[in-house]
Amino acid sequence: MGAVVGRSVPRRDGPAKVTGAARYADDLSVEGAWFGLTVRSTEPHARLLGIDRDPTFDWSRVVVVTAADIPGENVIGVEHDDQPALAVDEIRHHSEPVALVAAADPATARAARAAISLRTEPLPAVLDMLASEKACARYEISKGDLEAGFAEADLIVEGTYRVGPQEHIYIEPQAMIAAPAADGGITVTGSLQCPYFVHAALGRALGLPIEKVRVVQSETGGAFGGKEEYPSMLAVHAALLARAAGRPVRMVYDRHEDIAATTKRHAAVVHHRTGVAADGRLVAQDIDIVMDAGAYTTLSPVVLSRGVLHATGPYRCPNVRARARAAITNTVPAGAFRGFGAPQTEFAAEVHISRIAEVLGLSPAELRRRLAYREGDVTATGQVLKHSVAAIDVLERAEEASGFEQERARTRRGSRDGGRTAPGVGLALGFHGAAFTGSGEKILASVAGIELTADGRIRILTAQTEMGQGAATVLPQVAGDGLGVTADEVEPAPVDTALVPNSGPTVASRTTMVVGGLIADAAAKLRAQVEARTGRPFAESWRDDLAANGPTRVDVRFEGFPGIEWDQEHYRGDAYPGFSWAAAVAFVEVDLDTGQVAVRRVVAVDEAGRLVNPLLAAGQVEGGTLQAVGWATIEEMQLVNGRFRNDRLATYLIPTALDAPAIEAHLLESPFPDSPHGAKGLGELPMDVGAPAVIDAIHDAIGVWITELPATPARVLAALRDLAEERTRGDAAGSVS
Ligand code: MOS
Repeated sequence: MGAVVGRSVPRRDGPAKVTGAARYADDLSVEGAWFGLTVRSTEPHARLLGIDRDPTFDWSRVVVVTAADIPGENVIGVEHDDQPALAVDEIRHHSEPVALVAAADPATARAARAAISLRTEPLPAVLDMLASEKACARYEISKGDLEAGFAEADLIVEGTYRVGPQEHIYIEPQAMIAAPAADGGITVTGSLQCPYFVHAALGRALGLPIEKVRVVQSETGGAFGGKEEYPSMLAVHAALLARAAGRPVRMVYDRHEDIAATTKRHAAVVHHRTGVAADGRLVAQDIDIVMDAGAYTTLSPVVLSRGVLHATGPYRCPNVRARARAAITNTVPAGAFRGFGAPQTEFAAEVHISRIAEVLGLSPAELRRRLAYREGDVTATGQVLKHSVAAIDVLERAEEASGFEQERARTRRGSRDGGRTAPGVGLALGFHGAAFTGSGEKILASVAGIELTADGRIRILTAQTEMGQGAATVLPQVAGDGLGVTADEVEPAPVDTALVPNSGPTVASRTTMVVGGLIADAAAKLRAQVEARTGRPFAESWRDDLAANGPTRVDVRFEGFPGIEWDQEHYRGDAYPGFSWAAAVAFVEVDLDTGQVAVRRVVAVDEAGRLVNPLLAAGQVEGGTLQAVGWATIEEMQLVNGRFRNDRLATYLIPTALDAPAIEAHLLESPFPDSPHGAKGLGELPMDVGAPAVIDAIHDAIGVWITELPATPARVLAALRDLAEERTRGDAAGSVS
């Protein structure tokens, strides 16, 4: 490795963002662009009988689009083709798009939207995932002999864990601008994670040959998975309006519409029944997972897959059964959100392990030390962990850096503030499969390239989007390292499907690991070509080579990680090319009067292979930890009759600077041998451990297990009341507690 990888070079997108020079979709001025709006359903389930236009409104000033105007297929197909771009005769969730309007100014567009009414007939709605008989995905993992395992158990611990939906709250809401091209094609510019998802969706819905579709990413103000599938919907809407209006159309959601209508993290119910031997060994894990997919499939099969594959936690157990289904209901479709289902199931696994530790009378750290995966262990799918296994390393570092056992002994001595608050410290351990599941990366066959351009630049060509996470900084570092130049000398090409190959979506913690690996390969090949021609080091000869031989471009295609065998039908084999590892220790104070949980400090230890940019990596750990703390304590999306009741920032609370704990990010490196630069995935990892660490800490503080996220004041007070009643009953019966 050269000197560029491993250095915290400044982020490439930083200066424009902090000076305000960066142009987000809503900042782009587009000559003659109209404003588009969406007419949405107000019921969770209904027959759509008609779309009525107020005859007194002047319709000549606006364009209106309904499903009947879609030239291609009326479908936003991600995993299944069940979701229409605009509803036809059935409304399946609240805030479902039914019609579109555009006008020269926002006021006229709003007036037009208000002049459209939906004639509907209500249908019974399924709002409880456990009551749904329809599933869009099911998986089952089975290892060993479950019955034999339970027969061997000295005790059985059972528990049900629930998590609610979570809203992404990317800073920039969904935004797209569509412009008709002279050749009958369409160009869409906007805020997105996956340009080629949007590209394919536009081709289908508009019935256009794919070469007439162009997708350009504008500066993107955060995403967290929330801009994986939904931008396809918004891009299709903007394009339909642009086609109808014969001019560019801009669609920018305000925060209210964005929260009400776009995807959320899947709510889930996870049940664990675990057989435990007296010495603490797990002998049987029976796990049942239900996730609320909402009204349409979107990315639920992928979310559920990752959920079930992480459901055991990173622990040895010879006998496992994990069953999972994603239930179709009449709620707003759920979708991708940092971690893809793993945070939900690892929350359940971690709280459950802490409860087992309590039953055994062991410290949560000690039980995990006995059970955590080590090199050579075999996961629930039968994957042998051959390398880069750092569960014990992250656990021990987290214990040391936080002084876990000493702190725990201190919190045992009781409350502060004359009894008004109770301090607690808690711990969680986690793992995250890096990149696409199983043979996913091989099937995807991503292509990335590097070129020496005619005008004298070194440019990397990928579809990887910068959304604040650092792709635009890290990938040039990898290229610079391979070429023997500084990261500054390499620039990422604009993410524009007319320019860059399909290097796959910017999701699943795969960018640095998989696309970074491709860039490392491409750099080595380009360097070898140039050096063979010039006979001198690339750094000092590439300009001469360019002058003498013209532009050179090297593209490489991903061909699969070595030794990965995956049986998709039986969910057996190597689920991931490698895993990243995390531990978190959370310090909380629980207010005994109000039930409020203040998270004061989190020590987060994450291991994701070789770090390309340690400072950006620490930023990912801090951000993911804070997002997990919010999910654990205050981020409660309340559903009333299929509608999000708190669909505004005034009512959906996320942590502010005042709520944020002091976060200490520690990064360990256990290089991954199957990629040229040794990196694994990091982006999603911290999201897996923050919430269960907080719940463990609340238990340490007040002696109750909060089994449903978030741990709101109401839930904490209810749990304290239950505990007090239990104690009173116990005293009345004369028992010793
Ligand atoms: Mo996504 S949940 O951004 O991999």
